[in-house]
Parts: sequence; structure tokens; C-alpha cells
Amino acid sequence: KLVYILNGPNLNLLGKRQPHIYGSETLADVERDCATLASELGVETRFLQSNAEGQIIDWIHQAREDGAGIVINPAAYTHTSVAILDALNAFDGPVIEVHISNVHKREAFRHHSYVSLRADGVIAGCGTEGYRLALRRIVSLTREGT
Ligand code: DQA
Repeated sequence: KLVYILNGPNLNLLGKRQPHIYGSETLADVERDCATLASELGVETRFLQSNAEGQIIDWIHQAREDGAGIVINPAAYTHTSVAILDALNAFDGPVIEVHISNVHKREAFRHHSYVSLRADGVIAGCGTEGYRLALRRIVSLTREGT
């Protein structure tokens, strides 16, 4: 089983960007921890980050062709992107949305998520551990579905 772990804009700066909100772990640390957990769970992961909306959409299309699961932190596109929602609506597998920070404790514009209209589950405010929680959930959903 393959799981795409997709990261949106500015997450390449994780660890350096507003560490009081997002913590001091880098995206490379998150990738490494996800890879360790994935091998324990017996799944393969493809960990990707882009600042470009179209690239994220292309990866969702690829995940569709691969019959994969998707863990996605769309970052700011969460709150703006109908195009990412549409791509996810064209995808049949399990989707878990992750936010490192608790978006509901923050500015009102972060309270609405287009992606949540499609996500099977949402994890927010659990720090970078949220990615590992999401990966576990994708694996359970995959096992339930088979
Ligand atoms: C985020 C929350 C978003 O509102 C923000 O734009 C991000 C990161 C999070 O992981 O907490 O870039 O998705």
C-alpha cells in the first residue's frame, strides 16, 4: 500500500517559520519520522512539498492513478483552494487532512477548510505528531476497506 503525504506552501520553512506556532522540527524531520512509522506499519510513503497549487493537484491525480491513500497538509490552500477540493473529489481513496497548529484557535479565516468537505478525517493542533496519527488512520481505513 502506498500513501502520499502532501505538503502545501511555506511548509519547506517548517522549523524556521513561526516556531512558536509550528514548532522547531523541520519538514525533513517529519519525513524521517513518517518513513520510520511507515516501515513499522508495512506501507510505502511518498513525502512531497510544493509551494505551487498546480503541482499539488498533479500529485493528487498521480495518487488516484496509483490507488494510494492521501495525507495532506494543504497549508494556506486549505482556506482558498476549490481546485484542490475538486482534485480530491476526483480521488476515491482515503484522505486525512492535517494541520500542525490548531486552526480553530487562530484567525477566523483559518476556521473554514475547503479540503474538509472531502477529508475522511481531520487532525489539527497535534503538532507534527499529527502526520503520524494521520498515517495510522489511513492504514486502518485501508484495512477496513479491504
Ligand atoms: C497549517 C495551518 C494553515 O492555516 C496555515 O496557512 C499553514 C499551516 C498548519 O499546519 O497548521 O501554512 O496548515
